[in-house]
Amino acid sequence: MARAAAIPLSRLSPLLLLLLLRETGAQDVWVQVLPEVQGRLGGSVELPCHLLPPTSNVRVSQVTWLRLGVATVAAFHPSFGVHFPNPQFSKDRLSFVKASQDASADQRDATLAFQGLVVEDEGNYTCEFATFPNGTRRGVTWLRVIAQPESHAEAQEVTLGPEPVPVARCVSAGGRPPARITWISPLGGEARDTQELGPQAGTVTVISRYTLVPVSQVDGVKVTCRVDHESYEEPVLLPVTLSVRYPPEVSISGYDDNWYLGRSEAVLTCDVRSNPEPTGYDWSTTSGVFPASAVIQGSQLLVHSVDHLVNTTFICTVTNAVGTGRAEQLILVRDTPQASRDVGPLVWGAVGGTLLVLLLLAGGSVAFILLRGRRRRKSLGGAGGGSNGDRGSYDTKTQVFGNGGPVFWTPTAPGPMRPDGRDEEEEEEEEKAEEGLMLPPPPGSLKDDMESHLDGSLISRRAVYV
Ligand SMILES: *[C@@H]1O[C@H](CO)[C@@H](O)[C@H](O)[C@H]1NC(C)=O
Ligand SMILES: *[C@@H]1O[C@H](CO)[C@@H](O)[C@H](O)[C@H]1NC(C)=O
Ligand SMILES: *[C@@H]1O[C@H](CO)[C@@H](O)[C@H](O)[C@H]1NC(C)=O
Repeated sequence: MARAAAIPLSRLSPLLLLLLLRETGAQDVWVQVLPEVQGRLGGSVELPCHLLPPTSNVRVSQVTWLRLGVATVAAFHPSFGVHFPNPQFSKDRLSFVKASQDASADQRDATLAFQGLVVEDEGNYTCEFATFPNGTRRGVTWLRVIAQPESHAEAQEVTLGPEPVPVARCVSAGGRPPARITWISPLGGEARDTQELGPQAGTVTVISRYTLVPVSQVDGVKVTCRVDHESYEEPVLLPVTLSVRYPPEVSISGYDDNWYLGRSEAVLTCDVRSNPEPTGYDWSTTSGVFPASAVIQGSQLLVHSVDHLVNTTFICTVTNAVGTGRAEQLILVRDTPQASRDVGPLVWGAVGGTLLVLLLLAGGSVAFILLRGRRRRKSLGGAGGGSNGDRGSYDTKTQVFGNGGPVFWTPTAPGPMRPDGRDEEEEEEEEKAEEGLMLPPPPGSLKDDMESHLDGSLISRRAVYV
């Protein structure tokens, strides 16, 4: 449709268009009004209306403002003055801004002013000039009466439960038209809106309740109520911190699996999340016998010297206004410290690691020599394969060699301990080796990304190795 209309217009020559426009302007007079005017409830507003062009020599015989269904609301006659025939639009509230009894006043400006706007003033108003000799000209303005709402939001304190309940409330009172309320939240709750009559006639109060299942994770989360209204220059944002009351969620920390006879100053800590704050901590044991060597200090249990009696399960029970939570910790008392047993594996690990590094270096050198001889990819995989089982130290080596120089990319082929996708990885490693030999690889992180793309999976290279 738009296109069809555009074609004939574009066929008119610009000169002809200009002539047409000039001629309508010169020939006749017209009325200029705003299509829409907004006024505040209780406030004042002006409905502009002008007879144009100002140079025309027509005579204004009467100006009338009419409203559909109410008929004349205001009239001005150069000889008889102003008249407001309708009690709803009395001269206390309505006036002509320029045109008045004064005959010298500008009769081409029929701008009408309203005071103390009421909801009933809303409507379409016709500004009508009766002219001599050119007859009647008119324009229509839509007067809208709006009211700015008062908005506020608050959390609804709720207690942990299985059913969705309102956890926050946002109220936008006395808006006209009704405000629009939305919630900005990291949680998946839903808004339930209701409307009621506002404090002033013709206004609406919107109440939005942000509703979700009150689990403990909701406690302390910040959400925002956003209120949009045409009287606001920008949306009003009202932050709310949610509050869910829930019984203590308890865990015990401090046990390192190395409590041995005679160990001093062993401590268990009762870690608690709760709302409201805990009112009390209670420590006990499953055996019912509380070791004399253990001292309770609020959320902590201090054992000055570990003895046989500590070889039990401790229970921390925490209470708040909502309820009670508890956690248990099994304490295994050892005859001797565990650390001494750890020495063996550590030493062997170190020795093994050193050997592996040496092996890798040797393997790398061999591969390098072979490669220089044949310049064939296949030989790379063969030389690197099966050389490594220690993934922890292996990772660092890969990074260091990878950034340091091309030669040592060879040993990065997977070892026999690789958990899965061995063949694929071998191929990748070969590609990498090849890359490495031609160009020094870009620094670490980029490399990681590249692999995850090649791979087609979301597992990053680091994740596979570590
Ligand atoms: C009044 O209208 C007539 C045609 O109806 C036109 O010729 C004349 O120019 C108009 N007067 C003015 C002042 O526009
Ligand atoms: C006034 O006129 C406009 C446009 O013609 C229309 O959309 C609007 O509903 C009217 N308003 C009233 C109160 O009749
Ligand atoms: C602690 O109890 C476990 C059994 O629960 C037992 O095997 C262990 O020997 C005990 N330790 C000491 C030091 O009594």
